[in-house]
Amino acid sequence: MGTLPVMNICCIGAGYVGGPTMAMIAYKCPDIQVTVVDLNQKRIDAWNSDHLPVYEPGLDDVVRAARGRNLHFSTEVNAAIQAADMIFIAVNTPTKTFGTGAGRAANVEFVEKCARQIAEVSTGHKIVVEKSTLPVRTAEAVKRILENANNGTTFEVLSNPEFLAEGTAVQDLLSPDRVLIGGESQTAIQTLVDVYAHWVPRERILTTNLWSSELSKLTANAFLAQRVSSINAISALCEATGADVDEVAKAIGTDSRIGPKFLKSSVGFGGSCFQKDILNLVYLCEHFGLREVAEYWEQVIKMNDYQKRRFCERMVRTMFNTVSNKQIAIWGFAFKKDTNDTRESAAIYVCRDLLQERARLKIYDPQVSEEQVHRDLIEVFSHTHGTITDQERALIKEHVRVAASAEEAAQGAHAIAVLTEWDEFKRLNYDSILQSMYRPAFIFDGRNLLDHRHLSSLGFDVHAIGKKIS
Ligand code: UDX
Ligand code: ADP
Repeated sequence: MGTLPVMNICCIGAGYVGGPTMAMIAYKCPDIQVTVVDLNQKRIDAWNSDHLPVYEPGLDDVVRAARGRNLHFSTEVNAAIQAADMIFIAVNTPTKTFGTGAGRAANVEFVEKCARQIAEVSTGHKIVVEKSTLPVRTAEAVKRILENANNGTTFEVLSNPEFLAEGTAVQDLLSPDRVLIGGESQTAIQTLVDVYAHWVPRERILTTNLWSSELSKLTANAFLAQRVSSINAISALCEATGADVDEVAKAIGTDSRIGPKFLKSSVGFGGSCFQKDILNLVYLCEHFGLREVAEYWEQVIKMNDYQKRRFCERMVRTMFNTVSNKQIAIWGFAFKKDTNDTRESAAIYVCRDLLQERARLKIYDPQVSEEQVHRDLIEVFSHTHGTITDQERALIKEHVRVAASAEEAAQGAHAIAVLTEWDEFKRLNYDSILQSMYRPAFIFDGRNLLDHRHLSSLGFDVHAIGKKIS
């Protein structure tokens, strides 16, 4: 099959998806020039510095090996589009906050803007690849916009959803379970297959039609989120009955039909994808009149909201029905370990609920900045009532402090809440932490991360998800 060798790739969007993915393509394909562009100058400067804007284990080495050789970060969007044979769109597609479909549908405004910009400045033949997670049939819209380019440019549109998980992005990119490429033109598909075939075994590169590819991404995330909500639902039952959710997860996970992964009960899933993609799926089902299907998937999110709310309620109940003016150490603010990403992190919602109970929070996360914590809390209060009141602003200002270490956060606290499963929390000197806290010293382990028996024996009052600590 005749394919066009790709010499020059441009990626629009230097975020958590665009940055690492393009770094890996450049690293593995020295014969291809890769330019990642973004409107955000600060982000591009960071990609060109020693402090990358995305924290991912192993990413520094990959970027360092390719940057300046065949990996470039720039704000010159038009120039990069013009020079490219293949253009990836990896811009953000947040849930709409306004108009029709608000709170459910994806906001594809940024994707459309990219498509228009590509149409306007391109010449010759281009392959445009959707990398952002999009509602099914967005490729159609992108195609129509591109077809209306009047300068004789021809386009092929492909869907190539990204399945990397944050925190393990480099490993996932190095050795993906599969790469999925959807499209209509076999030549365009093969051209992208050839890029990935530089390091991914051919049998792991799946090709489908456009719509299957788009829908597979939403479905994969919906299934994964569903597993977490399923085990979290069981965790509530475990707490009521005396069963242990980790034991149940192990027992069912050894059934090869179920499998052991994604059965870790937690304070709730977060991240930029799960909730957004399920909402997207729900919106799509409603659009096609599939009410029962929409309700089925919506339940996954409701269960997740319940799990987050339940965690705070349990803390308050356990601490003698009041946390007002009590200091609580919040350990971890990122939505999972090994990332600095806080989007939809369960910690944001737990902190909001605790603040509404007038608790004083001392937050520590090894990768999340103080500014980010404040931004997220202001935003979550704004969303809760449509606007943030002066009182809430004052509450955040007076009741939230960011600590430089887990120990500092716990000093003088009534309780510790573990909200992200950072490894460093397992290696602390809990004896001295206990000495620095009020008694009873509560630990609420929202990740079932710590050695509960040991902590109990030291004198902590330990509470975990889906189990009773004797
Ligand atoms: C997810 C998908 O895994 C990935 O394929 C897709 O490309 C993007 O969305 P990501 O959100 O980065 O990746 O992380 P993931 O590891 O899936 O975790 C999502 C959330 O679920 C996290 O908050 C995590 O802590 C939580 N989780 C995951 C659990 O609570 N229990 C589990 O067993 C697994
Ligand atoms: P993701 O997790 O999907 O990668 P991010 O929000 O981390 O999402 O990254 C998306 C990036 O896309 C942001 O850095 C944003 O500035 C960039 N972006 C959005 N629209 C455009 C555009 N029209 N041109 C260039 N960059 C854009």
